[in-house]
Amino acid sequence: MLAVSNLDTFYGKIQTLWDVSFTIDETEIVALIGANGAGKTTLLNTISGVLQPAAGNVEFLGNRIDGLQSHAIVELGLSHIPEGRKLFPDMSVRENLEMGAYPKRVWQRKQETLAEVYQLFPLLKARQGQLAGTLSGGEQQMVAMGRGLMSRPRLCIIDEPSSGLAPIVVDEIFNIIQGLRDQGIAILLVEQNVQQTLEIADRAYVLENGRVVLAGESKQLLQEDLIRKAYLGI
Ligand SMILES: Nc1ncnc2c1ncn2[C@@H]1O[C@H](COP(=O)(O)OP(=O)(O)OP(=O)(O)O)[C@@H](O)[C@H]1O
Ligand SMILES: [Mg+2]
Repeated sequence: MLAVSNLDTFYGKIQTLWDVSFTIDETEIVALIGANGAGKTTLLNTISGVLQPAAGNVEFLGNRIDGLQSHAIVELGLSHIPEGRKLFPDMSVRENLEMGAYPKRVWQRKQETLAEVYQLFPLLKARQGQLAGTLSGGEQQMVAMGRGLMSRPRLCIIDEPSSGLAPIVVDEIFNIIQGLRDQGIAILLVEQNVQQTLEIADRAYVLENGRVVLAGESKQLLQEDLIRKAYLGI
């Protein structure tokens, strides 16, 4: 479904990603693990068209998408749920969600999709008139995910959804991510919560200093020394 090949990305003259390659199949959860500053967000931004790669290519559902603008990539069915949620704090929950329905492909189905999102997150329906900036962190993450789903994606890339949330809310977010995969949406998940992430992911890639240093099935990676020492503290 997604094939990233030999990506290099720079900020000005500083190279941040080096020869990054990986794939995601339909209905897979693939995790991307790495320390602060490893380049995870840079990689997601390069895939979703926020940044342009200096070399390499990105193929999504058979189309080359590197070089396309973000809005064109969303139109093709790839949704990016960004780090830090990036909500419109002075707009209501409902208005934030509707902002996700701008692709032409889905605009007509906005009401139907909104009802589906409310079914997935009943709490958001109860709070649809509340200003997003007044929600709790967990509720804001749900709005960010709901907004990402309003474009009816085939692939969702999600950057650190559990950041700053209480364990019980993290469990809920992870359950929802598994539910999305079960509905047929592929997931690329960036997380620092490595144990729980490897428990729900099918496969994972480890990024260090902008390079992929390890890849494999999640079950196997949970046994790897590098993962156990550097990311699980065992
Ligand atoms: N806009 C920018 N301009 C210049 N350098 C940047 C910019 N954004 C990120 N960087 C640098 O690129 C490197 C990778 O950053 P990135 O945000 O991709 O890491 P990350 O793995 O997502 O980290 P975190 O876990 O903290 O979110 C870092 O050295 C960072 O300082
Ligand atoms: Mg990041």
